[in-house]
Amino acid sequence: MAEPTHIMPLTVSLLPLLLLLSIANGVHCFEEKKVFFMNKFQWKQLSNAPRCLPQKSRSENDATILEMKHRDYCFGTIKNWEEKLQKRIISDNSRVKSLQSRIRRAVSSRMKDQSETQIPITSGINLQTLNYIVTVELGGKKMMVIVDTGSDLTWVQCQPCKSCYDQQDPLFNPTISSSYQSILCNSSTCQSLESTTGNSGVCGTEQPTCNYIVNYGDGSYTRGDLGHELLNLGTTSVEDFIFGCGRNNKGLFGGAAGVMGLGKSDLSLVSQTSTQFGGVFSYCLPSTEADDASGSLILGGDSSVYKNSTPISYTKMISSIQLSNFYFLNLTGVSIGDVALQATGFGKDGIIIDSGTVITRLAPSVYRALRAEFLKQFSGFPPAPSYSILDTCFNLSGYEEVNIPTLRMNFEGAVEVNVDVSGMFYFVKTDASQVCLAVASLSYEDEVGIIGNYQQKNLRIVYDSKESKLGFAEEPCSFT
Ligand SMILES: *[C@@H]1O[C@H](CO)[C@@H](O)[C@H](O)[C@H]1NC(C)=O
Ligand SMILES: *[C@@H]1O[C@H](CO)[C@@H](O)[C@H](O)[C@H]1NC(C)=O
Ligand SMILES: *[C@@H]1O[C@H](CO)[C@@H](O)[C@H](O)[C@H]1NC(C)=O
Repeated sequence: MAEPTHIMPLTVSLLPLLLLLSIANGVHCFEEKKVFFMNKFQWKQLSNAPRCLPQKSRSENDATILEMKHRDYCFGTIKNWEEKLQKRIISDNSRVKSLQSRIRRAVSSRMKDQSETQIPITSGINLQTLNYIVTVELGGKKMMVIVDTGSDLTWVQCQPCKSCYDQQDPLFNPTISSSYQSILCNSSTCQSLESTTGNSGVCGTEQPTCNYIVNYGDGSYTRGDLGHELLNLGTTSVEDFIFGCGRNNKGLFGGAAGVMGLGKSDLSLVSQTSTQFGGVFSYCLPSTEADDASGSLILGGDSSVYKNSTPISYTKMISSIQLSNFYFLNLTGVSIGDVALQATGFGKDGIIIDSGTVITRLAPSVYRALRAEFLKQFSGFPPAPSYSILDTCFNLSGYEEVNIPTLRMNFEGAVEVNVDVSGMFYFVKTDASQVCLAVASLSYEDEVGIIGNYQQKNLRIVYDSKESKLGFAEEPCSFT
């Protein structure tokens, strides 16, 4: 057992990083990592961060590397971090609820009329859960878009706009772009919309354009018409890239011009750029929201451009007939501080890996075992009340640093992934009086588990649709 004496009082009060991490130094029976807490002064500094500078990109070998930022940093000053952190959790719950209902409908749709039963996932864009942005160039204009592996159609707000939310970049204007062309409603692309967005494309009333609708579970939506346009990703040009020109968009999309769909279907950016990038992309999500923290989205599968510190190990993607646009993996086990959890919920159905969900959701049987083992090893700390979906909480305001047990996920093919220490605790209160284990339980055993972005930080995660495999390696994320 780890004794409470492993908490070493620190004299350092101002730490340069939000969550500085280091490996625990011996003397414990369980595998642990140390987490330093940010003090009030640092939260204040963070909230005074300036708007982000233009995001960078570069090419190396056959890969294009785009700088990836947390959008909270880029879209204005955050006055109340605590409120922000709390809203994000509530929002995350909505996203997951909507995702589960989509899955249920998709599964039952094998017997019913598909158009009626399939609704798209709540993308979470308005809900502050889709957190990572990159900059691309569409028709020669730079635009910040939110990266989402849970959606397929890429779209941006377009002029003339019937209803657009505020965005940081000027609206895209297809009428002044010589490389823009509408997609007609009698095309096969238009006919394929239903399987991608859940709504079939319809002909425009005045022109034979292909009108699309993407409804998100929470009432927000984008509506417009499909077009193709020259897309530049770093120095790589993609001609005739199909995307949605959003003329009527509702939701608090947080200043981004739109969404980059990195799902698995034919319309996604991954499929449309397969001649350039071979159907492979990877990302490394930064561990903090601080101004100097950046990660990268790499398009292309040349692993020599990664900065991984451990070898990449691959697990296979599980195919799901009903949900062919999501990335499913086979989670075969979880351990806490080297103790393998015993639970019935492993290896049965796939678990989704998603860039847009924040907190990892596990089957109740798995979560119960995880919680019990975590409490056993992380003992002696004062408990704090639950917050929304997070029910393993502590008052750590009296500590400057603590050692926390290592969380490890195992996937089919003997793949082991250590969750970065920055993805272990979620701060509900910035003074650390309510800090919760950043993992939650699903409501029912038969719901589909999700690996959220909080547990994907400081990892190179390689999505290889061509070979139907997904790779993990440790990497201190940074664009440079
Ligand atoms: C679609 O309609 C246009 C006219 O609106 C026509 O020129 C074109 O041949 C049609 N394409 C197909 C595939 O039917
Ligand atoms: C997951 O992997 C385990 C062990 O290899 C296997 O028994 C199980 O059938 C797999 N589950 C799925 C859904 O593929
Ligand atoms: C948290 O713990 C500190 C001391 O460690 C105490 O002063 C404070 O009142 C506690 N806060 C809550 C909300 O319980």
